[in-house]
Amino acid sequence: MTLLFRRERGRLPAGTAYIAGRTIREGGVVVFPTETVYGMGADALNSAAVKRIFEIKGRPLDNPVIVHVCSRGQVEQLARDVPAMGRILMERFWPGPLTLVLRKGPAVPAPVTAGLDTVSVRMPDNRTALSLIRQARTPIAAPSANISGRPSITSFEEAVGELDGLVDVIIDGGSSRIGVESTVLDLTSGVPSILRPGGVTAEQLREIMPGLTIHPAAEGFTVYRGKAPSPGMKYRHYAPVHSRVLLFESQPGLEEAMIAKWRQISRSGRTAAFLVTDETEIHTGTVVRLGSRERPEEIARRLFSSLRQLDRSGVDYILAEGIGEEGIGLAVMNRLRRSAGKARGRSPAHRKESGSSP
Ligand code: TXA
Ligand code: MG
Repeated sequence: MTLLFRRERGRLPAGTAYIAGRTIREGGVVVFPTETVYGMGADALNSAAVKRIFEIKGRPLDNPVIVHVCSRGQVEQLARDVPAMGRILMERFWPGPLTLVLRKGPAVPAPVTAGLDTVSVRMPDNRTALSLIRQARTPIAAPSANISGRPSITSFEEAVGELDGLVDVIIDGGSSRIGVESTVLDLTSGVPSILRPGGVTAEQLREIMPGLTIHPAAEGFTVYRGKAPSPGMKYRHYAPVHSRVLLFESQPGLEEAMIAKWRQISRSGRTAAFLVTDETEIHTGTVVRLGSRERPEEIARRLFSSLRQLDRSGVDYILAEGIGEEGIGLAVMNRLRRSAGKARGRSPAHRKESGSSP
């Protein structure tokens, strides 16, 4: 049985955080909102509870989870040491969508870090999440709430649709404000490196760390063949269940290329829908708009829910338009490439579309 805490006129029932916090303390699993995407949380210091998350999600055991804290003091419980840069970043970006990879302390059980000697921590910028952690009186280990491999969950309705009956509690937090996950930043290997682009942009981080690097796998091309510093890089991710995503990176003649593909699919007796920006002149068949290219934050906010909406509609193919990689655009492109299972092409000029062809 799953206990659902639904918002009425924008407010959660009294006692929500208290009851959900107690559930965490007793080893239960709680789906809760954050500013990025919904998380599936358990007591980070309880090995058995964390293992249940892996089972429910069907998550590979070698993929570590992020530990969510409500105070800097909790970080001291989890990390062996916090470098000076870590403190500066916490001051500037917490609470917020920045996850720091630090050297792990002895209190953190192995399933949380998938046996690595590092632990990733973040303080979410969401009142419900923060009061849940406070009431639980323990840091909360929480991957994104989706079943492993699927697009992340950014609304209460999606959470209930996917997880009712599988978890102990689901808390309504409305639509996620940012819509893509946090930026994962590794501070343990000399030069700070972005392992996953997210809500805090590379440009924002460079203001503080001019030497910042972006790990090559963070672009999101699949079949990353190097030794993955972040195990999550290795897996196909964000993929709709029914539809296949074909990604068209921005290029001259984009509209023609997308429409030609749509015709080809239609002729073969299958269905396709477009997932495009407001500026793109396509008015054929089903068209879902992500927002304006001028406002990539809006595109990020709608990305996962649009993929899920089209998937539910049962189309065979989603023809998705890529956007520029400035700002949060890099996070959007990482998710789109991975959802299309996109391998790196010969060169961007030759790369037209990826994913499997009809
Ligand atoms: O915004 C977010 O980060 C959301 C919300 C719920 O906080 N959480 C989230 O968790 O996206 P998840 O599990 O879907 O993604 C965590 C990513 C994975 O790619 C994982 O491999 C990486 O962070 N990660 C976690 N711990 C790590 C570590 N110690 N070293 C390197 N990468 C790590
Ligand atoms: Mg995830």
